[in-house]
Amino acid sequence: MSKKLWGGRFEKATNPLVEEFTKSIHYDYKLAKYDILGSIVHVGILGSAGYLKPKEVSKIQTALLKIGNGRFTPDLSYEDVHSQIQDMLERQVGDLALKLHTARSRNDQVVFATKVYCKDNLAEVAALCAGVIDALKSLAKANSGVIIPGFTHMQHAQPIYLKDYLGAYIMMLEASVDKVKIAVSDIKLTMGAGAVAGTPIDAKHYNVSMGKYAKKLGIGLTGLNLEPTKNSIYTVSDRSFVAEALNVTAIIATHLSRFAEDLIIWSTKEFDFVDIDEAFCTGSSLMPQKKNADALELIRASAGKLFGNRIGFLAVMKGLPLSYNRDMQLDKEPLFDSFETVIGELKVLKGIFKTLKFNEDKIETQLDDESLYATDIVYYLVDKGAAFKTAHTIVGKLIKYTIDNSIEVKTMTQHELNIFSDKFVKAEIVKLFDPKISVESKKSINRG
Ligand code: ARG
Repeated sequence: MSKKLWGGRFEKATNPLVEEFTKSIHYDYKLAKYDILGSIVHVGILGSAGYLKPKEVSKIQTALLKIGNGRFTPDLSYEDVHSQIQDMLERQVGDLALKLHTARSRNDQVVFATKVYCKDNLAEVAALCAGVIDALKSLAKANSGVIIPGFTHMQHAQPIYLKDYLGAYIMMLEASVDKVKIAVSDIKLTMGAGAVAGTPIDAKHYNVSMGKYAKKLGIGLTGLNLEPTKNSIYTVSDRSFVAEALNVTAIIATHLSRFAEDLIIWSTKEFDFVDIDEAFCTGSSLMPQKKNADALELIRASAGKLFGNRIGFLAVMKGLPLSYNRDMQLDKEPLFDSFETVIGELKVLKGIFKTLKFNEDKIETQLDDESLYATDIVYYLVDKGAAFKTAHTIVGKLIKYTIDNSIEVKTMTQHELNIFSDKFVKAEIVKLFDPKISVESKKSINRG
C-alpha cells in the first residue's frame, strides 16, 4: 500500500482519477539515484544542524545507499519517486525515516534531482559526441585522399576533400561538446529553498562536497558540490537548465539528422557513394532485395521530435506565475526523451561511421562532370586579368554552349574556345578538369 508525503489536513480520500492523473512515478523513477543522493546529503545537513544524531545520520544514509545500489523498480501505486523512496526508507529504518523530510520540500528536492540528472546525462552526451568525433576522424584519415563533388542546393558545385566534408560535421559536434560542457558547469546544485521561503537551517550547513556519495551511488560525476540557495524562490521556480538541456540536445540532433540525410541520399542506387554496413540496416517484409537505412531515417526524424520536446516544454513554462506550480512536473518526459533519443542516436551513428565504406569508383565517375570545374575556369580568366563578373558571364555562356551541343569543354578546339574569350589556351584549360588540382588550388582553408 503506497503512502503519501502529505494528507494530514484531508478527510476524504483522493479521487482515484486525480490520483492517477497527477502521478509521475511511471517516468520520474528515472530520477531515483539522483533523488537518493539528495536525501543522503540532506540527512548529513540535518545532522550538522542538530536535527539528527550522528548515529541516526549514518543509519539513514546506509539505508539510502542500500536502496540506491539495489535495482530500483518503480511501484506505480506511488505518486512519485520521492514518495516511493520515503516509503522504502520507512520499511528499512522505521519511524526514524519520518525525520528525513525535515526542512525540505519536494519543490526543492525535484530541482536538485533533475539538475544532477541533467549534469550526468549532459556529461554522457559529451562523451558520446567525442566517440562519434573520433570515429569521424578515423574515417577522414582512412579516406584522406578521396575527393567528392561538393554540393550546394543539392547541385554539383565544386570538388572538395571528403576529409573536409567529414571535418564540417566534426566541427559542428565539437562546438556542441563545448556548449554541453558549459551547460554542465552552469548547473549549480543547491538546497535550502524549502517549498519557497527557505528553511530554518543556517546556510553554512548547506556547503557540502558530494563527490564521495555520488561515487558510492555509481554516479560518474566528479567534483559535485552543494551550495546554499541564493534565492529560494528562484530555485523552486526556474527551469532554465531544462531549457538549456533541451536546446543543446535539439541542436545536436539537428546536426545528426543532416548527417543521416546525407548518408541516406549517398546510399541510394542513384548516388551509390557509400555502403552502409548491413548490421546497421533493416529489410522489407515484402521486397526481398531491400536493404534500408531505417536507423538513419529515425535519426533524421528524431530531430523534429526533439524540437517538439523543447518548444512544448517552453510553452509549459511560459506565463507561469512564481513560484512552484505542478505544471513543472511536465518538464520530465520531454527531458528524459530528448536525452534518451540523442544518446541512442550517437551510439548508433558511431557504429555506422566505424563500418562505413566509400565507393571511390562511383564517386570518381561523378567527378568527370565538367560543371564542377566551371568556377576554376573563372579563376583562370581572372588570373589572366579579366574582371570576375565578366569571367563569370563568359564561363556561363561556355557551359551553356556545351550543354546545348552535348559536348565537353575538353573536346572543344582552340578556335571554338576563343569565340568565348581570347584568353583561353586549350592546353591550359584541359588541365583544370582535375579534382586534385581543383581542391589544391583553394588556399584559403587553414586546416591547422
Ligand atoms: N512530481 C513533482 C514534480 O516533478 C514533485 C513536486 C511536487 N510538489 C508539490 N508540491 N506537489 O514537480
